Amino acid sequence: MDAPWSFGVEEMVHDYLPDALENPDAPGAVPITASGLWVARKLVAVTARRPERDPAVLHRFGPHVWLNIVLATHVDYWRRGYGRRLKGIVMQEAREAGVVAITSVVDRRNSAMRALNRQLGGVEEAIITDVEPDPDFCRCILPIRPD
Ligand SMILES: CC(C)(COP(=O)(O)OP(=O)(O)OC[C@H]1O[C@@H](n2cnc3c(N)ncnc32)[C@H](O)[C@@H]1OP(=O)(O)O)[C@@H](O)C(=O)NCCC(=O)NCCS
Repeated sequence: MDAPWSFGVEEMVHDYLPDALENPDAPGAVPITASGLWVARKLVAVTARRPERDPAVLHRFGPHVWLNIVLATHVDYWRRGYGRRLKGIVMQEAREAGVVAITSVVDRRNSAMRALNRQLGGVEEAIITDVEPDPDFCRCILPIRPD
């Protein structure tokens, strides 16, 4: 991964995520749930989520919203459907948990992630910071419809 937004994703997967999972009781820790897809005993894709806390989102959708904090497929396995499959599994888990939407914050240059979200029914919106929309990131809202 050498795209400009990928450094933050690498840091998330290799540092922040293991740390958060290993130390769930650390002061200020938020509950994070991670899932992975293994192929021939190799971890090919990983994702993590936590409850959404943005008041602007909760005001619109209520308390049952997840924030998808990362979704990443190993670069050797890109474009084989693993990202879509893993996010689909999380969407099904959300449905079963009564979650009404999954949000994510996406770098606007990340055309792969934006296309995947759109494919799954996600809708993008601007993130308002103070008074202006964030020029670099957008929020994707993925509605979860009951079965
Ligand atoms: C985004 C990412 C997770 C997609 O994973 P993937 O396993 O390659 O995705 P899939 O094979 O399931 O592709 C599903 C859809 O995503 C879109 N997509 C995936 N890669 C794409 C690319 N390089 N360009 C454009 N669209 C792309 C397509 O719509 C694709 O459907 P299609 O193959 O039927 O056209 C992967 O590119 C990745 O790990 N990127 C780096 C990490 C990252 O930026 N994560 C998002 C921020 S947390």
